[in-house]
Order: sequence, then structure tokens, then C-alpha cells
Amino acid sequence: MVQHTHQQCTASEGLCERSDYLVEASDLTKIYEVGEITFQALAGVSLQIERGDFIAVMGHSGSGKSTLLHLLGGLDQPTRGAIDIAGHALHAMDESALARFRREHIGVIFQFFNLIDNLTAQANVELPALLAPRADRPAIRKRASQLLARLGLEKQASKYPWELSGGEQQRVAIARALINGPTLLLADEPTGNLDSLSSQDVLNILAEFNNQGQTTVMVTHDAVAAARAQQILFLHDGRIVDAMPGGESGRVAQRVTQLG
Ligand SMILES: Nc1ncnc2c1ncn2[C@@H]1O[C@H](COP(=O)(O)OP(=O)(O)O)[C@@H](O)[C@H]1O
Ligand SMILES: [Mg+2]
Repeated sequence: MVQHTHQQCTASEGLCERSDYLVEASDLTKIYEVGEITFQALAGVSLQIERGDFIAVMGHSGSGKSTLLHLLGGLDQPTRGAIDIAGHALHAMDESALARFRREHIGVIFQFFNLIDNLTAQANVELPALLAPRADRPAIRKRASQLLARLGLEKQASKYPWELSGGEQQRVAIARALINGPTLLLADEPTGNLDSLSSQDVLNILAEFNNQGQTTVMVTHDAVAAARAQQILFLHDGRIVDAMPGGESGRVAQRVTQLG
């Protein structure tokens, strides 16, 4: 992860080399308008993420974390700025192109799991794959079963969300986020609604998939969770104000306190 740098261009040769960053965002700005009132949730965020990175974004409530994550996932569009993921210019896409981009490249995990109540765990995991054109149902069923087994949920496959614990629901949501083999996995406070044991489970799973190459961006206000990432960015009032490597949660908590 590198911040605030730009694509290398050698103008004299008329060349502008394509960068090999997976994610490049520059000057991302998001202004919400509610009636007569405007609110700037992001105030010019630039960042670059390499393939295989595990980035945590920390900041107090209202600092713009979810807004940033939504822009990275093509769930919303910036008011200003550019965002390029795996060669796709998200800021230039219309809604149907964005929907397709999300399906092919993005997996998202939410704080409140957002599983579909009247579908079993297995069906929840299969759903994003079944939405693709020419979906291969037997292959999808097998892939979903394998993912559920890998997350320790074989016995839960035919249960409904309300029959599962919070930790189990979040593991189902992780399997659902991974079913299409996303280029980028995004997690918005994935441990925010879990006890500490289930939180550890979820963090171990994210770390394990990242070790196998899954590029991951996780938003959290929990220092213990953020410390598991390779790199931590600190957001304050819609700006990146600091960055540090992950590692030991005590140091991360200390830095958060310093930011006020
Ligand atoms: N859809 C929206 N309309 C208006 N204001 C919003 C909207 N979404 C977020 N905001 C405002 O933008 C700011 C940043 O929100 P958010 O990105 O959700 O912060 P965080 O995830 O760090 O708590 C907050 O002050 C919030 O009230
Ligand atoms: Mg949020």
C-alpha cells in the first residue's frame, strides 16, 4: 500500500505506463446532499493498494469509513475523484456496468451479516454465483459446499440464518462474499456485532484467505481487529491523516487515542 503517489508517465516518450496497482484512488470526494444541507463525508482520499494487501481503515464513527468502502466496492459513486480497480474506471461507469463489476470483482461482508432470512446457509452462499449469466448450478453447489466446509459450517448448511449464532452467520456471509472469487474483499466492521471469540474466528479466516492471496480491505474501529492487517490507514473527517503497519494492537490503540 502506498499513499498519495500517481501513475508514472514519461511524457517525452509519449508513454504513460499502466500501473500494476490493483486499486488506485485519487482525490476521492463524497458530498451528501440532504435537502438544503450538504455534508462532505470524504474530502479527497488518495490511496493505492497492491494485489495481496490486507488493509485496515480505522477512524471514529462518522469519519467516512463506510463511505470509502462503498466507493471502493462500486456500491456508490464519488462526487469527485477517480477510482480504478483492476483496470476498470469505476467513476466512469453507469449503474448497469457497476452492477456487473460488483458481481465479478467485489465481495462484501457487513457488520449485521445481511443474510437473506428465508434462504438456508447453502442457498445464501450460492446466490451471488447463481446471478451470473450461464450459471453452472452443480458446480456452484459444490463450490458453496466446499467453502462452507472450509469455514467449519458443514452441519449448518441446511439451517436458516435465525437458527445460527452470530459468528456462524458471519462465516456464512464470508463464504457468500467469496463464492465468485472476488478480486477485492471488502469488510465493513465485520466483528462489530460479535463476541470476542467469534471475532477472533472471523479475523483468523480473513487472515488465512489473505495469506493465500485474497486482497482485503477491512473497516473497523477496533484496534485488535485492525492490528491483524498489514497496513492501517487512519481516517479523520474524511481524510487519511496517518498510516502505520499492523502487528501489535496496543500500539494501534495508542495511535487512535493520539488522533483524538
Ligand atoms: N446517505 C447519506 N446521506 C447523508 N449523509 C450521509 C450518508 N451516508 C453517510 N453520511 C454522513 O457521512 C459521514 C460519514 O459517514 P460514514 O462513512 O458512514 O462514517 P463511518 O462509517 O466512519 O461511521 C457521517 O457524518 C454520515 O452522517
Ligand atoms: Mg460505518
